[in-house]
Amino acid sequence: MGIKIHNFINLNSKKFSVKFFNQRLPFIYILFNFFYRTFIVNLKSKDPEILNFHKLGFTKIDISLKDEISEFKDKFILKNQEEKNKKKMFFDLGNNDKKNYLSKIKKKLSPFLKKLENYHGCDCKISDVVMWRNFNFQNKNNLEEEHFAEHFHQDSYLMTYSKIHINLMDVTEDDGPTEIISRENRSAFVKSFNYKDRHNYNFFGDHSLIKKNIGKIGDCILWSSPQIYHRAGIPKNYRDMCQIILISLPKKYSEELDQINDLKLFDNNQENFQNFTKPYSIVKVIKLFFIYLRHKLNG
Ligand SMILES: [Fe+2]
Repeated sequence: MGIKIHNFINLNSKKFSVKFFNQRLPFIYILFNFFYRTFIVNLKSKDPEILNFHKLGFTKIDISLKDEISEFKDKFILKNQEEKNKKKMFFDLGNNDKKNYLSKIKKKLSPFLKKLENYHGCDCKISDVVMWRNFNFQNKNNLEEEHFAEHFHQDSYLMTYSKIHINLMDVTEDDGPTEIISRENRSAFVKSFNYKDRHNYNFFGDHSLIKKNIGKIGDCILWSSPQIYHRAGIPKNYRDMCQIILISLPKKYSEELDQINDLKLFDNNQENFQNFTKPYSIVKVIKLFFIYLRHKLNG
């Protein structure tokens, strides 16, 4: 009996979270995000992109990186091409090109990042940049196998972690755009798709709840992958993407990220900053919240 009650009130169980909060995240992360949204974020600017992001969990950014992408696109080279059966392959770029590419992107995005910093009330730093290609395959609605996150899920991070996706090509319905469920539709999604986890849901739920990130080369969106369900679409041929991971953290702690030169940001750093985005104990999550709160109150 005791064990059963313990299982039922295991607040850290993602099953519990889906059932009661329509989110497949550790309960303590849901709580952190709730308090962060209530006490930390700043909506005073009334900026439409920021308000959209807050409400829906994603927003198109009104900045086109078309010129920057077009300039470098021919220099992207697929890595490990000999591995024929891969459904996802990463792009490489020469070291100098990496630096130039990122510095141009940073410059163009900087007005938007300022707005985002105002929303979070702290610094928003790039911790990772990665470019890749997803290839077509026949999945026959198979939820067991997964090649490139093509099953609905939330990223198991706090909302201090967010992503910018940049189209490296024009993306139509046929190119497997990223599919997103807005924050507002989370509960409708869980109900309609009878969602349990990424390997257990009904494929034929209400598809009108799905928003597809179609757009032109250079278009970008900001989205909170921990707050919203999402999956990669399967392209008829292939789709090329650039992903930027952003971490929100108080200035005192962001200096370490500033020390990393742009070249290193292509080297899969995110684990180095997981203290701020993916803490592994309840105590750490609570302590982290108070770091943000103290920063807000002192700021
Ligand atoms: Fe994801």
